[in-house]
Amino acid sequence: MKPDTNLSRRGFIGGTMLGGLAALSVDPLVMAQALVTGKKPEDIQGHGIPPGYVNLSSNENPLGPSPRAVEAVAARMFGVNRYHWSSTPDPLEVLINTLERKHGLPVTETTWDNWEEVTKNRRLALSAGSSMILHAVGLATVRDKAELVQAQPAYFDTAEVWRRFKEEEGADVKINYVRLTRDLRHNLNAMYERINDNTTVVVVTNPSNPTSTVVDHDALADFVRSVPSHVTVFIDEAYIDYTTDPGYRDAMHLTLEYDNVIVSRTFSKIYGLAGMRVGYAALSPRLGRKLSLYNLGGPPSNLGLYAAIAALDDHTHYARSRRSVAEGKTYLGAAFERLGIPYTPSDACFVLFRLGDRAESVFSALQERNVWIGDAMWWGLKGHLRVTVGTPDENEAFINTLEAVM
Ligand SMILES: Cc1ncc(COP(=O)(O)O)c(C=O)c1O
Repeated sequence: MKPDTNLSRRGFIGGTMLGGLAALSVDPLVMAQALVTGKKPEDIQGHGIPPGYVNLSSNENPLGPSPRAVEAVAARMFGVNRYHWSSTPDPLEVLINTLERKHGLPVTETTWDNWEEVTKNRRLALSAGSSMILHAVGLATVRDKAELVQAQPAYFDTAEVWRRFKEEEGADVKINYVRLTRDLRHNLNAMYERINDNTTVVVVTNPSNPTSTVVDHDALADFVRSVPSHVTVFIDEAYIDYTTDPGYRDAMHLTLEYDNVIVSRTFSKIYGLAGMRVGYAALSPRLGRKLSLYNLGGPPSNLGLYAAIAALDDHTHYARSRRSVAEGKTYLGAAFERLGIPYTPSDACFVLFRLGDRAESVFSALQERNVWIGDAMWWGLKGHLRVTVGTPDENEAFINTLEAVM
């Protein structure tokens, strides 16, 4: 194990045993290294990554996938010569029906005879990761003279499709970025003000990334009610499973009440299946048919389908993942307070913190020590960094390294 000199020196100088060590006839730095018992990057073996790395950059589930999902994938591996419809029951249909039940959407069971009619009227579409939904919404709403409204800074994959159409195709589009409120939440009133006859889509990320803040459900429902029906309201709920805000209630039911609302979810976060690429959207049949033109509903692989079905059934892994993130947030919050670092209370599986002028150098120093976190400056949040909540060991190694490089 290679000790980190900075960390050791700091531990030594700050330690209460300074006097005692000085009395010993050994190199005090060597002694200090031995005293540093906290985790360091080189002690870490993260799930699915090489040893010695603390990867807290992409908001993945540090506990790994559900063991049931792994079993399901292993059991089906030798059948990947087949399309999903060659299996009985078809895993695509099983996953759709399971999700419809979970979210209180009408259950659409198909037979050979009713398949066309039933699928045309579905309110749920699967996709290979929810990024495909963000992309499809962008493609389905971009056109000359159209306008998009979204918060800034916030996840911007849909707006990015528009930006690229503008850049590469010369599309005459306008992207209206609306500043967050002072407490880093979506400013729904200001977003509403930016909607006009040319607006085709409004994007709400709830909880948001990189800020981890949530929009109160009733405020969101009011917003949806007031938005004109020609505007698609796209609500990205990638992190909703971690939310503890008392104003929380998921927005799925709004897709039943309003023809112009889409809500997306992913198996990449709490379900620990980022590499399997499984996401889905709840939406009206009209929007479902429209988005299918842009390949929404082009499903995940068979293994992704089986993994997702098994993961949905693993309530233990879900609860464990949620609890681990809650405990990790408490640990990180306490550590940030001890270090005098301002941070944003999180409703997601990551924490935004502010280092001001030191943010860039600290980010690089962490990288040099194999600690990867998110750079919120890249999103336009000056002086801010974002750390995904890891396992207790990863959290500790991150904090120890942060303390050492500050
Ligand atoms: C807010 C948000 N939406 C969507 C995604 C896309 O996730 P995936 O494509 O893995 O489902 C991410 C990924 O980090 C995200 O942060």
